[in-house]
Amino acid sequence: MTGDLAAHPGLAGGPVYLDYNATTPVDPRVAEAMAPHLRDLFGNPSSSHLYSAAPRMALAAARGQVAALIGARPHEIVFTASGSEADLLAVRGAAIASGRPRPHVITQVTEHPAVLQTCHALERLHGARVTMLPVDGEGLVDPAALDAALTDPSRCGCGRKTPRPPPSPPSWPPTRALAGSTTRAWPPVRPNGW
Ligand SMILES: Cc1ncc(COP(=O)(O)O)c(C=O)c1O
Repeated sequence: MTGDLAAHPGLAGGPVYLDYNATTPVDPRVAEAMAPHLRDLFGNPSSSHLYSAAPRMALAAARGQVAALIGARPHEIVFTASGSEADLLAVRGAAIASGRPRPHVITQVTEHPAVLQTCHALERLHGARVTMLPVDGEGLVDPAALDAALTDPSRCGCGRKTPRPPPSPPSWPPTRALAGSTTRAWPPVRPNGW
C-alpha cells in the first residue's frame, strides 16, 4: 500500500496497530466490493439455480484477479474460509501429494498451532517425519539448520518467511524452502500506509 492514501478509518486517531499477523483491518475498497455479496447476492456459487449465477461470476472474477496479482493460473487459486484451514490444506496436501510413505515435513517451533497440530497429525496418522527447527532470539530460523534438515526426501517446508535481505548484503544465506506466513515482513508493515 502506498502512503498517499488516507489512514484506515478503524485506525485513525488510535494507538499504532502492530498485530497484522493476527488480523488486519479490511481495506474500505474491499468492504465496498464485498457489500453486495454480503447483503443481496447471497447464493451459493456451487448451486445450479439462478441465485448462484452472480456469486459464481464474482468468484471467478476474484479468482482471476488474485491469480493475475501473484502470477498464478486461476485454477491454482483455492479460497479457504480461514487461515487454519489454509494451513491444513497446504501442509497436509503437500505431504500426502508427495506420495512418499514417510514424507518429511520441516517447520519451526514458533509456527501457528494450526501448522504444528497439522504436522503432529501427519506424524500420527500418516507416518510423517517432522523436523521442528529452533529459532534464535529474534524468532528467525538459522538457514544453516534448515539446510541441514533438507535431506532428501524433504518435500514440504512450512515456516515463517525469513525477511528479505537489506539491499546489498555481503552474503545472505540461501533459504531454500521457507514458505508460509510472514512474521517479519520486509519492509515492515506501515500501519497507516493505506
Ligand atoms: C499462520 C497462521 N495460521 C492460522 C491463523 C489463524 O487464522 P484463522 O483464525 O483464520 O483460522 C493465523 C492467525 O494469526 C496465522 O498467523
